[in-house]
Amino acid sequence: MCGIVGYIGNKQACPILITGLKNLEYRGYDSAGISTIEENSLSILKNQGRVKNLSDLNEINSLSGTIGIAHTRWATHGKPSQVNSHPHLDNSKTFSVVHNGIIENYNELKNFLIEKGYTFYSETDTEVIPNLIHYYYKENSKISEVTNTKTNTSAFLTAIQKACNELIGSYAIEVVSKDFTDCIIVAKKSSPLVIGKGNLENYIASDIPAVLEFTKNFYFLEDNEFAVIFKDNIDFYDSNLSKISKDLKEIDWDATSADKNGFEDYMLKEIYEQPDSIRKTINSRLDENEEYNFKDLELPKEYLKSLNQIYIVACGTAMHAGLAVKNTFEKLCHIVTQVEVASEFRYRNPLIDSHTLCIFISQSGETADTLAALELCKNAGAKTIAITNVLGSSITRSSDYSILTHAGPEIAVASTKAYTCQVTILTMLAIYFAEILTNRSAMEENSNITSDHIAKIDHDMPDHFVEKDGFDAIDIYNSNFINNLKHSILSLPNKVQDCLNSAKTIKEFSDRIFEEKDIFFLGRGIDYTTALEGSLKLKEISYIHSESYPAGELKHGPIALIENDTTVISILTDSNLVAKSISNTQEVITRGAKTLIITNQNIGANNFDTVIEIPEINEFISPVLAIVPLQLLAYYISKNKNLDVDKPRNLAKSVTVE
Ligand code: M6R
Repeated sequence: MCGIVGYIGNKQACPILITGLKNLEYRGYDSAGISTIEENSLSILKNQGRVKNLSDLNEINSLSGTIGIAHTRWATHGKPSQVNSHPHLDNSKTFSVVHNGIIENYNELKNFLIEKGYTFYSETDTEVIPNLIHYYYKENSKISEVTNTKTNTSAFLTAIQKACNELIGSYAIEVVSKDFTDCIIVAKKSSPLVIGKGNLENYIASDIPAVLEFTKNFYFLEDNEFAVIFKDNIDFYDSNLSKISKDLKEIDWDATSADKNGFEDYMLKEIYEQPDSIRKTINSRLDENEEYNFKDLELPKEYLKSLNQIYIVACGTAMHAGLAVKNTFEKLCHIVTQVEVASEFRYRNPLIDSHTLCIFISQSGETADTLAALELCKNAGAKTIAITNVLGSSITRSSDYSILTHAGPEIAVASTKAYTCQVTILTMLAIYFAEILTNRSAMEENSNITSDHIAKIDHDMPDHFVEKDGFDAIDIYNSNFINNLKHSILSLPNKVQDCLNSAKTIKEFSDRIFEEKDIFFLGRGIDYTTALEGSLKLKEISYIHSESYPAGELKHGPIALIENDTTVISILTDSNLVAKSISNTQEVITRGAKTLIITNQNIGANNFDTVIEIPEINEFISPVLAIVPLQLLAYYISKNKNLDVDKPRNLAKSVTVE
């Protein structure tokens, strides 16, 4: 999606802005542009295509000045073209604006401005913003009879505030003006914007990695706030233009963590970073006694006991992480847990009240649909927890509690290390809740636990625990299970490292199948959630059509698609279901399919094409291991097809519009 960068200081702005734009390339975009100010002149340069298409223009050398704003555009209103690229000017060429987001009432505003004599040159929604600012700037100067407004920054700010009051939709904007040559003004609503503080210089960005090599200290602008940014000072204002103060936050990412570090692509680097990022994520929630520590959540036993359900809401890969832990929450906490796609959830009037706990998962912490779903749950009185990878992101700031994954910057559009960290931390959270709800009497009092539910748990319990009567048996079962799961979690970094050893075999398999048109992923239970994520990875970066199915569902229709040489990938990690999944896999082999098996089970001598063995582990955390070969498979197929692994077509890293 669109990216924003800004600079004000003593250095030439243009090279810094180009660097910032390059750092944002991973977000996906189709054009780029820059405005700088020098003395009283406003320069602008923009071009369709990559940032290189902009930086290679001869005119770039004439973009001098120590103040500038820049943008990468991902087209929404109007095709990718030079004229539709940002920055956009008002008719008098006094104001230059870059904008992330969508102005939903732009047609209405455009008609209003056309009536007032303004002309529009682009097809964008954004072009109404500079013209509206100009309109209010002129109105203001008439009312206040200030003829020379150039020395009065408040006239600039007031015009922007009045324009923002008219905007419906989402925006993060940067504005510079030839009438105010010592500042940049920014404003936001429902689109992210951060301000990086330097020494006698300041930076602006839609995403921290854009300017991470220049500063680690950031202010986070909230919705309906404004900042007037000078090189040596920043003034913050609320929606009524009353001055407010803000805390500076230090980000612990270092700039090299956003480099490729010798890897050919960010995605490959991020796949290989997983042992380390998972280790950091686990350690972030272990106390000195190696106990899980989520005490900052302040959710006591009485509250957890009172829950009627947990909603886990997210998009894409983050939603798959939710699916991977749904059973863990239900099994360990005995609370009904629903996992939903944010874009559906937000419009379907879900049943939410103060006894509902809502968990939102988002790598970026900026996904528009997830953020909107979060607001909906807050308004309905539910407590909210955010699982994000970006400190200070919108979802982190909006939720009641936030839990950070420690994956480090994820640059490749296809999410890998964020997913494995999300599954890990959510499993730890489920265990933490279960340990609070530790005894059966607490469970019994919980209205969620029906006698059927208890009977099912009893049925699932190993025989040697059933001999004990009733509730203690469940406690013992749970506590043994939890100990085993905790042990498995600690073993994850080393076991993920082992999974990376599958790269050679996976690469060879990908050499054989990269020209295929359809690939199928099968799994039962938790393996089905891995199948969903493996299939998404493949689609995103190889553009091969793929489907994922619960293995048992295949013969209810999709098996009709299996023909000679169709590739079917089966994930087999659940010991209770492995025999059934093998039978389903045999059914496709009989119909000519060739199979790749990802397993840690004893699958006997079967006629599978290729088998990838991954380490044994408690199946509730097995997606963290089983996904690794599938991430590598998607990667190598994409490389075989000479595709842009890190920036796949049509996709954006951070989806800040709905
Ligand atoms: O930043 P988020 O985790 O909220 O992003 C959600 C999805 O857009 C994201 O997971 C997307 O599906 C990825 N491209 C998957 O690789």
